[in-house]
Amino acid sequence: MKDLMRQKVAIQDSVMSMLNKQVKLEAQSSAAYLAMAAWCDQHGYDHSAQFFYEQSNEERGHMLKLFHYVSDMGGQPMVATVDAPQNEFSSLREVFELALESEINVTESINQIVAACRKANDFATENFMQWFVKEQVEEEFVARRALEFFDMLGEDPASLLLIDERILKIKYTEE
Ligand SMILES: [Fe+2]
Ligand SMILES: [Fe+2]
Repeated sequence: MKDLMRQKVAIQDSVMSMLNKQVKLEAQSSAAYLAMAAWCDQHGYDHSAQFFYEQSNEERGHMLKLFHYVSDMGGQPMVATVDAPQNEFSSLREVFELALESEINVTESINQIVAACRKANDFATENFMQWFVKEQVEEEFVARRALEFFDMLGEDPASLLLIDERILKIKYTEE
């Protein structure tokens, strides 16, 4: 009965532990965005605050999506401990720079999982992860577009207010 374990758990250990690491990364992202939202609130950037509160919720959604998948596949999902996120920033621009940097890290992590799935012939998990691949295209697009506003408009107080007002209007469309 060499496949006794396979009867209970549908994913290989190596892939499972990467999924649990991703659970932690999404939880960490959720906390980071929450801290960014608070900073924006405190500095009068209301729209950016709303943007980061929503991002924080989305990251929790990503975490849960992975958590449920691990559980549904018969694995043991791990509730992640999250480190205290950065909560002081030098400028609104820095907040968005760090947001983009964090999204790029997440994209790389997701790509590694997809690569591991291929190596393990785990096509079900690869298929599941494609949702995240697509999501990251959108996340990076939005953060990059926000940073372009700073390049275009500069960082004087009036420009910052204008940028803040445009943040929620950034939309990624595939067409
Ligand atoms: Fe995410
Ligand atoms: Fe994200």
